[in-house]
Formats: sequence, C-alpha cells, structure tokens
Amino acid sequence: MTIDTKFIDQFINVTSKAALASSYLVGKKDKIAADKAAVDSMRSELNKINIQGEIVIGEGELDEAPMLYIGEKLGTNNGPEFDIAVDPLEGTNFAANNLPGALSVIAISEKNNLFKAPETYMEKISARVSEKNVIDLDFTVKQNIYNLSDYLNKSPENLTACILDRPRHKEIIDELNKLKVNLKLITDGDVSGALLVTEEKYNVDIFLGTGGGPEGVLAAAALDAFNCNFQGRFLFKTEKDKARAKKMGINDLRKKYELNEIVTGDSIFCATGITSGDLVAGIEIQGNDFFSETLVTHKSSGLKKVIKLKQNL
Ligand code: FBP
Repeated sequence: MTIDTKFIDQFINVTSKAALASSYLVGKKDKIAADKAAVDSMRSELNKINIQGEIVIGEGELDEAPMLYIGEKLGTNNGPEFDIAVDPLEGTNFAANNLPGALSVIAISEKNNLFKAPETYMEKISARVSEKNVIDLDFTVKQNIYNLSDYLNKSPENLTACILDRPRHKEIIDELNKLKVNLKLITDGDVSGALLVTEEKYNVDIFLGTGGGPEGVLAAAALDAFNCNFQGRFLFKTEKDKARAKKMGINDLRKKYELNEIVTGDSIFCATGITSGDLVAGIEIQGNDFFSETLVTHKSSGLKKVIKLKQNL
C-alpha cells in the first residue's frame, strides 16, 4: 500500500500554515507563544483533511499537553488511517530570537508504521550511506570516521561531522578534533542537522550525538526517502521515563533501532522554514500573500525536493 500523492499538497499546506502562524512571533522572545501558534494552526489544518489520523509523536501526552498530544485523533475521520508525527515548531529558540533554522515539521505513514516515541533523548547517527556496518551506534567515533572515510574515499580531514554543541558531547567532539574531522556545531535543531547528510551540497558527511527522540523519528522519515542510513537508541533516565516506555510497548530499553524499525512502508515528510536556514528559506510576507519553502519527501513516488509556494494570507 502507498500513500496517495493527493495528500502531499495537503500536508505541505499544514506545515506552511503552521510556519506562517509562528512567523508572526519570530524575534518576540516568547518560545511558548511561537510554539502555540504553530500547534493551533497545525491542529486546525489537519482536522480539515479527509483522514483518520492519530498523533504518534507530538507535544507530549494528554496530561501535559493540551493539543497534538500522543494518541490524539485528527482529520475528518473519513479516509485512510495514518500515523502522524509532528514538531510544529522545531527550534523554539531560533524562532523566539529570530535566528536561522526554525522549521515546522510533520511526517505521515500508514497506520502502525511510525514509531510511537516517548519524549526522551535519543542517541543518533546518520550518513549518506546505503550499506550496513559503515556507521553504527555501537562503533567508536574513530571506527565510524575511518569506515566512512574508506566508504566515501575521503580522508578524515576532508570529512565534516554535524553535532549539537552541548557539554554532553565533549568526548565525541574531542575525538573528532583529534581525528581532524571538520565540525559543524549546531546550537539547536537536530532534525535539520540529521538531514544535512542527505545531499552533498550541504557538505556534511555524518551527523551524530544525542538529541530529542521525537526529532529522531521525524528525521528518520525523511532520511528513508533519501536512502540514507540512520540509527537511534532512546535514553531512558528516570523511573518515570522507563515506566512510560514500558507502557508504550518498549521492553528492551537499550535497543538500537535501525531506520526501518522506526519508519516502515510509505511516508510523507514536510518541513517548512519559519526563519531561513540550511534546508529551506523562511516565511516571507508580501502584501496579501506569503511565500514559503518546504522540503518534501514521499517515499513511494521518489519525491524529494524543496517546494516554493505563494499562498494568500
Ligand atoms: P525545541 O524546538 O523543542 O526547543 O527543540 C530544539 C532542539 O534543539 C532539538 O532539535 C533537539 O533534538 C533538542 O532541542 C535537543 O535538546 P537539548 O536542548 O536539551 O539538548
């Protein structure tokens, strides 16, 4: 089964409207308001689409998030059953402070084909590699770099690694420096970070490190369409996290997930720019129109490109 191409435009509309809603709050130093604007818009636009959708990655769970919570049902309740992963505002700091890279992101699969991920951290690794055993979460940083260097026929000095700039990554960053790998340190936004491996033009060969689990699942959906490799391993620290994971059906808390255990079958991924970044330009308003750019993938049709839209306000 595949997801009908008619849904592509409808989901682009969802993220472009959410990006527009959030764009009015760019630079206003209010992360919560910018997020809420995107959430409210996304919810109302998703409810207009003829689908039976269920949020599997959202803004938390019912007890902590008023909308777009895991398990929330969306759509007109008429049409195919879809799993939906959302990050209405990815990069809340970017939007609040008018910095590059804020996105509105969604991924859709057929029912039961997207991983229901709890809101915990995830160790991640991705690269533009289709074979297994080149990069692996269980390899040391050095082994991953040497393998990738052989695979791409580039010396470590000519490789670039993207990683969130966090104290928890000190050991990895020190090792990458020792190997003379170039670094692209990002302050936030690791959906985008993981996707920089998809095309040579971004000049990133490997993405690694620990970030949000939901962001990992969203990135995996796009990476699948690009034939890139991705692995993720959730990190459950507190007893509450562990109990929640068990409730969601995760028994092996240290399991390393391959990309196709996170997303299977067909999928659509849309990421619209709120502020301009590496992947897409931000929202621009001119008169009664707004312009948006969305990175879209649809696995079964092979679509993977940036779509520019002009829409009425
Ligand atoms: P928000 O948009 O929710 O603020 O997340 C931004 C982000 O940088 C994600 O891209 C990333 O996965 C996560 O935060 C990293 O978390 P932390 O800031 O705790 O290291």
